[in-house]
Amino acid sequence: MAVLLTGGTGYIGSHTAVELINAGYGVVIADDLSNSEESVVDRIRMITGTAPVFYRADVKDRSKLEKIFAENDIEAVIHFAGFKAVGESVSEPLMYYRNNLDSALSVLETMKERGCTRFIFSSSATVYGMHNQVPFREDMPRSSTNPYGSTKLMIEMIMEDLCTADPSFCCVALRYFNPVGAHPSGLIGEKPSGVPNNLTPYIQQVASGIREKLYVFGDDYDTPDGTGVRDYIHVTDLAAGHLAAMKYSSDSRGFTAVNLGTGRGYSVLEMVRAFEKVNGVKIPYEISPRRPGDIASCYADVTKARELFGWEAGKGLEDMLRDAWNWERNRTASE
Ligand code: WQD
Repeated sequence: MAVLLTGGTGYIGSHTAVELINAGYGVVIADDLSNSEESVVDRIRMITGTAPVFYRADVKDRSKLEKIFAENDIEAVIHFAGFKAVGESVSEPLMYYRNNLDSALSVLETMKERGCTRFIFSSSATVYGMHNQVPFREDMPRSSTNPYGSTKLMIEMIMEDLCTADPSFCCVALRYFNPVGAHPSGLIGEKPSGVPNNLTPYIQQVASGIREKLYVFGDDYDTPDGTGVRDYIHVTDLAAGHLAAMKYSSDSRGFTAVNLGTGRGYSVLEMVRAFEKVNGVKIPYEISPRRPGDIASCYADVTKARELFGWEAGKGLEDMLRDAWNWERNRTASE
């Protein structure tokens, strides 16, 4: 038996592969390498001692999926594959809808034909939109503020409708808050192409001298220091949340959505100061205008993950930022 990770050489997927292999699961990765590298497969082997089975495949391609299911006994699928840049989704909506929806539909159609009924989906806190009060709870109304967020919301609705029509399915939407950091080995981590959209990779590149300074997108939000507050979660904690979801799905049915966060928010300036303190580096910054679409505060109510999965995040900000810097130094040294 094995678990198929679509997009499994990506940032979250690779850390989840490590977690699953260490827990004794067989892992099969399907990835088109459009935003990751095949070398990640061997790095997963270096960390765990076991190499996942790897297929270079676009999971919109049903024939490729049929081959993977024919050659492996897939008991469950964790679906990471998808485009995820918020800004790009605004300028290229058709590309995002085509890629993200086709990928999810192709995977679910193949699963249904092959009698594989456990589907875990990489969703996002972005589905809580702009109008809910923090901390965000899974039963709050969903909405989207950009095409990327809309694809996440639409795929959750597809999962709900599938489970209504076919009660044999178990579909779990894992709503990530802000994943940061890297495996302590420094062998795998986030490798953004081009200018990083997200805060921590940008801070890492300022620290390594690739970027001159951090631009803080607004300091006039209704938060303690005026800068945006987010729920940062160590990527290895997030990976452990996927393992917990895998165990849950082995004897459950129906659709459920679960937050994967810490329940604690930190502001941009708190992140800057913590990174400087933990790593002994200076992060020059400049306050700049707000980024369109950003909300003031976003952090999770973590009750459901604790009650349903028996899981909660364990690592603190120091671990996140130390591991993030360790990865950045390893990455830039090996380039
Ligand atoms: C965090 C905070 C910014 C960069 C997005 C997506 C979410 C998920 C994670 C994919 C905010 C501020 C950032 C910078 C800054 N995406 N910031 N300067 O926007 O919370 O979430 O990424 O899975 O779905 O919505 O994350 O890291 O971009 O921003 O001041 O150069 O840092 O304003 O307050 P975000 P982020």
